[in-house]
Amino acid sequence: MGDGPRAGVGDDLKTRIVAALAGARRRTLSLTELDAESLRRQVSPLMSPLVWDLAHVGNYEDQWLLRRVGSSAGAARPELDDLYDAFRHPRSSRRGLPLLDGDAARTYLARVRSEVLGELETLAPDAFGGESRLLNGGFVYGMVAQHEQQHVETMLATHQLMGEGANPPPGSVDPRDRPASPVDDLATVEIDSGPFHQGDAGNPWALDNEAPGHTGVTGEFLIDRFPVTNRRYLEFIADGGYQRRELWTTEGWGWRQEAGLKAPQFWDIDGGTPHLLRFGTWVEVDPAAPVQHVCWYEADAFARWNGGRLPTESEWEKASRTDSTDGTGSEADPNLGGRFRGPLALGAHPSDDVGPGCRRTIGDVWEWTSTPFHGYDGFESFPYREYSEVFFDGRYRVLKGGSWATDPIAIRRSFRNWDFPIRRQIFTGFRCVYDPRRGPDPEKSNTAPVRP
Ligand code: AVJ
Ligand code: FE
Repeated sequence: MGDGPRAGVGDDLKTRIVAALAGARRRTLSLTELDAESLRRQVSPLMSPLVWDLAHVGNYEDQWLLRRVGSSAGAARPELDDLYDAFRHPRSSRRGLPLLDGDAARTYLARVRSEVLGELETLAPDAFGGESRLLNGGFVYGMVAQHEQQHVETMLATHQLMGEGANPPPGSVDPRDRPASPVDDLATVEIDSGPFHQGDAGNPWALDNEAPGHTGVTGEFLIDRFPVTNRRYLEFIADGGYQRRELWTTEGWGWRQEAGLKAPQFWDIDGGTPHLLRFGTWVEVDPAAPVQHVCWYEADAFARWNGGRLPTESEWEKASRTDSTDGTGSEADPNLGGRFRGPLALGAHPSDDVGPGCRRTIGDVWEWTSTPFHGYDGFESFPYREYSEVFFDGRYRVLKGGSWATDPIAIRRSFRNWDFPIRRQIFTGFRCVYDPRRGPDPEKSNTAPVRP
């Protein structure tokens, strides 16, 4: 520990930075412990070969922590910047590039990391509270650790896309191994129309699109207490949800036709019991678990079928404030960080049945909102436009709350993720909101055993 209080604060932050970087690296290395062929495989045009992600996270760290805030930079390899620039090479073309192989990438990552840690050690503890906006509160270190964790989640999506016979993520637990007690998956929570704080609330590791924090505005509404379960989603399917044109927007119906959608991605509903392919293995669909791998159009159609709609980002964030579990390390920590390899059945989590308010807003599944991704009023890109700003074109929808795959350091209530409305390889589900005077359609998905 340092001598004075200021030094103490800096040292504490250094400890957190070292842990965040190490945690990300542990996950990166475990997901890339594969033979050369698997590392270079293009499992889907949507994904990079894993060996690209591997060196890309090291190159990002090299650029930001060695060349922007560092000084010695003996491990820096600027000649790799072009190869690992996501904007120069679309994901589907990366396989053809002269990429570092697994061993060369791991050596590069290790050399960069060792130099980063050496420089961090010699950094004056008050550097985190000084002039440099990049260093303030350890921001740039937090940004790099979060970036690597975001790629960990992307790499998990690549693993999931490897299909039948693939191995599950090393060390991950099957979510069905955790016992669950019955919980009412149709419960709703009433939210008033009062103002609330939306966006960044002063977390030094918040990313540019979370700021500026501001007063959020919503009407009064009802919202699902939990994300929509497979049980409810199966009722939507059984009730002809995919065949009924009136449940879909024009765009959504067009995509439903073009892509031949009839169930969430990775599902097989053609046999008797519905099954889903989870990291290489077919398993029965657990009715009590949140649905995942649905695109925005499917979520939107379900909500309409159910007499509701998707929440706006503001509604979601306000409702999330009624969720006592926030992912800050308590006993009742949400399902984050890839310990389980999927969302947990409702009733499997210690806090599912405790107190009022929403549950599972953090972890388990990302949640679609109806809000197109734009900057908040007063947005300023920092430290580079390509993190967020170049995506503010109205074609992306905001996703909130993180999934079972998201690391705790990479999620906050204010965290904003985004994707195209057709995407469903991500670990995404949703919940619905309803008119406070009517609630969900009582004819729909109402067969749940309600707890006495
Ligand atoms: C915030 C998850 C949409 O993966 O495209 C990774 C994060 N930015 N490298 C993405 C990101 C740069 C980004 N998302
Ligand atoms: Fe990246």
